[in-house]
Amino acid sequence: MRKVALITGVTGQDGSYLSEFLISKGYDVHGIIRRSSVDYRERIAHLEGHPQFHLHYGDLGDSMSLVKVIGLVRPTEIYNLAAQSHVQVSFDSPEFTADVDATGVLRVLEAVRACGLEKECRIYQASTSELYGKVEEVPQNELTPFHPYSPYAVAKLYGFWIVKEYREAYNMFCCSGILFNHESERRGETFVTRKITLAAARIAQGKQDCLYLGNLSSLRDWGYAKDYVECMWLILQHDKPEDFVIATGVQHTVRDFATLAFHYAGIELRWEGEGENEKGIDIKSGRTVVAVSPDFYRPTDVVNLWGDPSKAKKELGWNPQRTSFDEIVRIMVQHDMQKVAADHVAGVMRTNLAEYLEKGLVK
Ligand code: NAP
Ligand code: GDD
Repeated sequence: MRKVALITGVTGQDGSYLSEFLISKGYDVHGIIRRSSVDYRERIAHLEGHPQFHLHYGDLGDSMSLVKVIGLVRPTEIYNLAAQSHVQVSFDSPEFTADVDATGVLRVLEAVRACGLEKECRIYQASTSELYGKVEEVPQNELTPFHPYSPYAVAKLYGFWIVKEYREAYNMFCCSGILFNHESERRGETFVTRKITLAAARIAQGKQDCLYLGNLSSLRDWGYAKDYVECMWLILQHDKPEDFVIATGVQHTVRDFATLAFHYAGIELRWEGEGENEKGIDIKSGRTVVAVSPDFYRPTDVVNLWGDPSKAKKELGWNPQRTSFDEIVRIMVQHDMQKVAADHVAGVMRTNLAEYLEKGLVK
């Protein structure tokens, strides 16, 4: 049996882990990449040149490129991971977000039909816990009503429903994984967890004074990205096409994450004050190392995500707690402590996103 996977969003956090996972399962893996002025594909650089790994130019905004790549590769499985995936950015670029995250999904489905592959190609859609948004119950499962609460979530809701529609209308094997937040040492540097682990490492090594964050009380169900990509594959190996919630079933605040990250960086924090005046203070030196900046507040914020992974556990045999919260934070901080030290030794002249973040120039 041919095992040929096509991944959109292959350069992203999940795309890179999924590529490694599928290669280890014997798949030929094809990825769609966008042309960029900086040809720097950090997360997949180690895979380029591998005999089972191939890249093609394309864009979710460009139907013809999708038809061309899908027709050429004739994948047996498509993982549609490409998206403008930053919730805060979706408030700044709502139309672009809708084009990629909503209409982009439709373009992938239509390209599969245009290539006559609707009976043989299984499709995974990267859906999200953001669909629950202004949550109507906790914890959230496959039956919880959706209440999207950002332009990103509204776009992803279209993606979810169009996948369901094509499944019913054309009998296609297409499914959505409703994934809760998953993090790793490859996480983008503007998502809250990576922003914290990088800043904790920089502060511990004297390269930054203070970390500015938005809503410290926001609750997330954080898992490890490497564990979650296995679930994407399991969803497509299931005997029938269905949607699944993928989560750990454990919830923490942004404040908890910061406390543990600084601990692993060698700094014990004490919290003082409330709201915009809350501060994280280094117990040893008495210095303020975490402060709140309203620049990072969102027009509408999702504050209570907590997933119930019972269905995935029962039907896919997936273990939601393979990597604990503590372990995820430890892995990320350890990685960033080494990265900050290595960047210093090498005198790396990379764009210093951390400094922009510190000054609130980038959200
Ligand atoms: P990510 O690191 O931001 O990666 C996004 C990927 O999409 C990148 O490869 C990006 O390419 C690509 N992309 C963006 N716009 C595109 C376009 N117009 N055409 C083609 N490719 C495009 O995201 P991630 O964390 O890996 O997440 C993967 C997917 O899961 C996303 O759809 C996200 O919305 C969803 N999701 C993520 C989480 C999470 O916690 N990580 C949870 C639920 C759902 P460039 O490298 O060129 O920018
Ligand atoms: N990014 C960021 N930066 N978030 C902050 C900050 C900050 O300085 N301070 C507090 N937060 C809060 C946000 O308000 C939000 O409530 C929470 O931390 C998590 O924010 P992000 O890490 O940016 O992730 P997200 O939950 O909005 O979105 C991620 O998870 C979704 C699944 O629930 C993304 O990966 C989405 O693509 C994904 O769908």
